[in-house]
Amino acid sequence: MTGARRALPARGLRYGGDYNPEQWDRATWREDVAAMRAAGVTTVTVGVFSWALLEPEPDRVETAWLDEVLDLLHGAGIEVDLATPTASPPPWLARLDPETLPVDASGHRLHHGSRTHFCPSSPTYRERALAITRAVARRWAAHPAVVMWHVSNELGTTCWCPRCGEAFRGWLRARYGSVEALDAAWGTAVWSQRYARWEEVAPPLRAPYLLHPAHTLDYRRFASDALLALYRAERDAIREVDAVRPVTTNLMGFFGGADYRSWAGDLDVISDDSYPDPADPGSPVRAALTHDLMRSLADGPWLLMEQAVGAVSWRPHNVPKTTAVMRQDALRAVAHGADGVLSFQWRASPAGPERFHSAMVPHAGTGTRLHRAVQQLGRDLAALADVAGTHERAEVALLHDWPSRWAAEEPATPSEHLRVLPQLEAWYRPFWETGVGVDVRHPGDDLEGYRLVLAPQLYLLTDDDAARLRRYVTDGGCLALGPFSAVADGNARVRTGPFPAPFTDLLGAEGEEWWPLPGGGGDDDTVGLVPDPASPEDVGSGTARTWAEVLRPTHGVVVARFDGGDVDGLPALVRSRDDRLHYLATIPDDVLLRRWLLGLAERRGVAPRHPVAAVPAGVEVARRGPVTFVLNHRRTAVEVPVRTPCLDLLDGVEHQARVPVPPGGTVVLREALT
Ligand code: GAL
Ligand code: ZN
Repeated sequence: MTGARRALPARGLRYGGDYNPEQWDRATWREDVAAMRAAGVTTVTVGVFSWALLEPEPDRVETAWLDEVLDLLHGAGIEVDLATPTASPPPWLARLDPETLPVDASGHRLHHGSRTHFCPSSPTYRERALAITRAVARRWAAHPAVVMWHVSNELGTTCWCPRCGEAFRGWLRARYGSVEALDAAWGTAVWSQRYARWEEVAPPLRAPYLLHPAHTLDYRRFASDALLALYRAERDAIREVDAVRPVTTNLMGFFGGADYRSWAGDLDVISDDSYPDPADPGSPVRAALTHDLMRSLADGPWLLMEQAVGAVSWRPHNVPKTTAVMRQDALRAVAHGADGVLSFQWRASPAGPERFHSAMVPHAGTGTRLHRAVQQLGRDLAALADVAGTHERAEVALLHDWPSRWAAEEPATPSEHLRVLPQLEAWYRPFWETGVGVDVRHPGDDLEGYRLVLAPQLYLLTDDDAARLRRYVTDGGCLALGPFSAVADGNARVRTGPFPAPFTDLLGAEGEEWWPLPGGGGDDDTVGLVPDPASPEDVGSGTARTWAEVLRPTHGVVVARFDGGDVDGLPALVRSRDDRLHYLATIPDDVLLRRWLLGLAERRGVAPRHPVAAVPAGVEVARRGPVTFVLNHRRTAVEVPVRTPCLDLLDGVEHQARVPVPPGGTVVLREALT
């Protein structure tokens, strides 16, 4: 943390998007501003990719065009999230110093001609990025349109160049002190990898066979820190001129190239880019989970910085969003804590790689179905202005840790079919289906107050975090661990002794062998799961796939056992006698998983806060503050039973016991005061 977060001024729920005036002429700017007003736009992000226009050649900065744009926007009451343009250096930078370009894992230097073509360790890049950042900040810090600074864009570049190697060695020295300590921590006695001198340690470039997992893990940590350092340098350059306005950079959900948990304290506003695929039925649950991650990183409201109102253009096949889905995606983000919905982009580009990406103003113009839906969303968000700023902690926490995910998904583990995010999603789903709030936390966070903590796949767990989780349990909490958890320590070394090593005593069971199931995890490759007759709770029968473990109960309770296959009769689900620590050693079917998790939640007194009496299948319910969002994903109308009369905040209609929701519809309810 770098002190208290600076907040955006209150303005209800913000609405708008990325605006790229550099692609348009003056007449279009005027049309844009008028159309933005008509659509209820409050906020636009300007300048993201405008370095080559702002600084056409080194040290010649041209600001007049952007002065005019900012004045126009301000005149229309539209506020600006002003970006530093450093995500896409102009062609002259590579000419000035080719080593500003990044190198891939094969050691090949990439070229310019796209975007994000910078090496985070290049001193020239940093110097030039900070110079243009300072110029932008100085020029517009006092401009009344500017409410926030937006550093770069989706910071995510990893580079494997010699200069990054040098920086990596500096990072390692700070972490380990000596090369001997590094050798010991990594375990380089294997395969003759022992380093005698710092100069021998390089980025984990492609090699003939497997790389050392501790080496690659530390490189990912280093690469994340290098990007954070860039963010901080720009942020600090802005701070020199503007100590007041919040600074953000747009994140990318569960993006694998950076540890956002370690970044969060440096962002005044947590902002995220979210592009659920409308063709994928798993998108709603995944989007909700990602929004919960952002709300948890923010510990309060966050901002949906980018989404699409229609199709994206970067998938192989880009199915558009119906206007109903567009509305649902936007309102879901609000339901999960977003204080605004911004889209990429305001006006569709006719040129460039994103010429087929949707926009709030499509190529076909403002007289279109899509644009009318954009205007309607502006009205909906305005009607929900009171929701802005509301926040409360959930009662269930789901644990996620980037380094643990990185380490778990290295090659050469017992199975590559046990993946972290699918596990997270599977455990999250029952809560999403019933409208129970979930925070996404880290094992190092303060977990006090959560009734239930879930760790679906936490392969790597540092000693400190293990101790913290133990304390959470012994202080009266309830922790459920998923398969292959707490296996490795902070250096990705496998813990020896029965597993889960830090917890066997509390759990009352000891693991001896990992047992990936034959077949790799297709739906036909399953074994049975049956309840243990002696277990006090009955999770029913079901199936297990992909993964099993050889567990031996000591003083714990066996809740379910494997039925069939090599693991026939062995425990699959065990818990401590006091019901506080649970360990699931497999991937069960969704029905059994749901029964188990919701049973646990019920025993811990976790209940939905919303007034929906029973959430029908195909309907998504989410509660934010005093408001309940109901999204119907079906193609047919549905009537949702409510325990108490509710007012629909979008159309003003009051409903007594049943709320009708049209196909694809979304209603936002508040319990009526009567
Ligand atoms: C984001 C990016 C935007 C735009 C968008 C398209 O990743 O920040 O600039 O490219 O994707 O979906
Ligand atoms: Zn580099």
